[in-house]
Amino acid sequence: MACLPLLSFFSIFFLSSSSLINAQQPYIRKSITLCESNYTWDSVLGYNCNGINTSCQAYLTFRSEPPYNTLSSIAALLRADPSQLSQLNSLPDQNQTIQTNRMVIVPVNCSCSGEFYQANTSYVIKKDDSYLLIANNTFQGLSTCQALQAQNSFAANNLAIGARINVPLRCACPTKNQSDVGVRYLLSYLVTFGQSVSIISSQFGVSTESTLEANELSEQDFNIYPFTTLLVPLQNPPTSNLSAEVPPTPPPPPPPPPSVPSSNNSSNKTWIYVVAGVLGGVSLAVVIGAIIFCFFFRKKKKSDPIVDSEVFEAHEKPNKTKVEEKPEEFFLEGIHSIAQSLKVYTFEELQSATDNFSPTCWIKGSVYRGTINGDFAAIKKMNGDVSKEINILDKINHLNLIRLSGVCFNDGNWYLVYEYAVNGPLSDWLYYKNGDQKFLNWIQRIQIALDVATGINYLHSYASPPYVHKDLKSSNVLLDGDFRAKITNFNLARSADGKEGEFALTKHIVGTKGYMAPEYLENGLVSPKLDVYAFGVLLMEILTGKEINLQYEEVLFSVINEKDGRENLSNFMDPCFQSNYPVELAIFVVRLIDSCIKTDPSDRPGMDEIVQSLSRTLSSSLSWELSVSIS
Ligand SMILES: *[C@@H]1O[C@H](CO)[C@@H](O)[C@H](O)[C@H]1NC(C)=O
Ligand SMILES: *[C@@H]1O[C@H](CO)[C@@H](O)[C@H](O)[C@H]1NC(C)=O
Ligand SMILES: *[C@@H]1O[C@H](CO)[C@@H](O)[C@H](O)[C@H]1NC(C)=O
Ligand SMILES: *[C@@H]1O[C@H](CO)[C@@H](O)[C@H](O)[C@H]1NC(C)=O
Ligand SMILES: *[C@@H]1O[C@H](CO)[C@@H](O)[C@H](O)[C@H]1NC(C)=O
Ligand SMILES: *[C@@H]1O[C@H](CO)[C@@H](O)[C@H](O)[C@H]1NC(C)=O
Ligand SMILES: *[C@@H]1O[C@H](CO)[C@@H](O)[C@H](O)[C@H]1NC(C)=O
Ligand SMILES: *[C@@H]1O[C@H](CO)[C@@H](O)[C@H](O)[C@H]1NC(C)=O
Repeated sequence: MACLPLLSFFSIFFLSSSSLINAQQPYIRKSITLCESNYTWDSVLGYNCNGINTSCQAYLTFRSEPPYNTLSSIAALLRADPSQLSQLNSLPDQNQTIQTNRMVIVPVNCSCSGEFYQANTSYVIKKDDSYLLIANNTFQGLSTCQALQAQNSFAANNLAIGARINVPLRCACPTKNQSDVGVRYLLSYLVTFGQSVSIISSQFGVSTESTLEANELSEQDFNIYPFTTLLVPLQNPPTSNLSAEVPPTPPPPPPPPPSVPSSNNSSNKTWIYVVAGVLGGVSLAVVIGAIIFCFFFRKKKKSDPIVDSEVFEAHEKPNKTKVEEKPEEFFLEGIHSIAQSLKVYTFEELQSATDNFSPTCWIKGSVYRGTINGDFAAIKKMNGDVSKEINILDKINHLNLIRLSGVCFNDGNWYLVYEYAVNGPLSDWLYYKNGDQKFLNWIQRIQIALDVATGINYLHSYASPPYVHKDLKSSNVLLDGDFRAKITNFNLARSADGKEGEFALTKHIVGTKGYMAPEYLENGLVSPKLDVYAFGVLLMEILTGKEINLQYEEVLFSVINEKDGRENLSNFMDPCFQSNYPVELAIFVVRLIDSCIKTDPSDRPGMDEIVQSLSRTLSSSLSWELSVSIS
């Protein structure tokens, strides 16, 4: 019995030590602004001393910007050798003004200082300086506020004007792996707007793969951000020619291919679905358009903004427009002939699947559990307009979005048949109603949050056309047998294919109170940031285990803004955790919540960034769990 923990201890030890030897440097991502937190994963404090040599020749890039717009001033700022700079950049006159934003390559001596590689320089503090301003604006991201804070004795809020501080510049030496393939130098490239790993790589004549690998990025995880450093692995010293003409700016990168996890194993039949999907999408849209026209434009009444606080219940109200037979038959025929992925069930089939809609098969609301061909399915009875939900779900296929497998129409009601999520809605697991002892641990909750973010990100960025879900909430997140999340209820979703900056306005405000973003409630503004806001509220529920409650917003702010944030954290977190959660990571997630529920939609992060943050959080949480389990 005692061997088990011992074995796992050794395997962990072995894994971590071997990965330290082989690991490249993690990309810093967007953590550069998290100055006050103890945020120490990624490479915020510097690149790890994991190379084969403890010191080496390295390169940095810097963009000319007054007052640092001559080689001599840049050399002084970065403590580089001006004549080397002059040679490397083919600019003989060190005092010549360099056009603003031109990239200058700077050679530095990089060496290990404790845990991290760095090239030292110093800086004299000016009025109104902060560590963030010095790191991000003066040094353009070549240092970080966290590293400055760690290596200087001045408190962040007490920088003495005129004092000289040590500035560690971010550099690194090649690892064994890199050296083996001929890499001799690493260049810390300052990312600017509109760049991608492939553009930067081609600028230096290296492969995208080697750059991704050098930064522990991948084809699935390749986003980079301005004012961060990206390591470019070089076999030869870089050159730049500042005396040459300014090259035209490269075109923006082509959008990356979406990587879509598929919920059913795709086989060689995939192309059939693609063709059917395309045909189906087009013809279905025509059919649905006809139905919408019949149903709504004929009977449309002017409505002031109204708030349906419980949308799900709204479907069950019998006061919906009396349905006429013809369009449905037309619609069903349409489905039958075009949407091959959607099965059309007879009412008798559903009756037998649900034991004639017996109470024992009732789940909640108008949803029943059915057994079709030995598999469970969720069958939802709806009346009114189901075209939107069918139209959306017919076209998307994503592990984290509930799958619609069939439809049925009978006696004025629609029945939609979905994949069955055995553990039911997330809300049941968070609010532990009726004294149920249901409880999700930290890892499960972060995985669920990541699943939801991934599903919504798919809707926003990879579905065609993109959609805004508009009714994201814990009761619309279902959990399968492995507690993986699936988003459901697309009845309010609408397409979001307006160009950035121009968003749709609507007068008909629907959604769920508490989850609705202020700009939507006030002005009917519809954009993907609506879902980001709702996600923030959902994430708050996931951590607190409480239904949306503004009182928690206050605690949230105190966690972030006050000195004793850690003490307030325990008031914020679900008591069910019994302190079994990683404090640093929890604070990080609280900050993420805060950014999602910002009043100004443009201050909220994109869903893609949220996915990245949460996937980092998840992997750090897994390490935390391991460390807890062996101690
Ligand atoms: C190191 O190189 C080997 C062989 O090229 C590769 O399989 C391995 O994934 C690399 N390790 C890391 C951490 O990049
Ligand atoms: C960061 O962590 C250190 C030690 O773990 C602790 O002393 C310090 O108070 C923490 N700082 C913040 C802002 O949480
Ligand atoms: C870097 O190191 C080399 C050799 O040790 C030295 O000649 C050179 O002056 C150093 N450069 C700087 C900028 O310190
Ligand atoms: C650059 O200007 C400074 C004074 O501003 C002067 O001392 C120095 O010699 C000049 N360097 C070159 C290479 O012209
Ligand atoms: C750089 O500065 C750190 C202190 O911040 C010091 O420990 C280290 O030795 C310095 N490195 C070099 C090469 O001077
Ligand atoms: C970093 O600096 C750039 C340019 O000076 C600025 O546009 C950007 O807003 C800064 N970022 C932060 C987080 O302060
Ligand atoms: C490491 O140091 C050795 C000896 O100074 C040198 O020959 C080798 O090129 C260095 N390797 C790298 C990758 O810098
Ligand atoms: C840099 O560009 C100038 C002007 O185009 C040219 O005369 C010079 O030879 C180039 N130098 C190098 C090293 O390419």
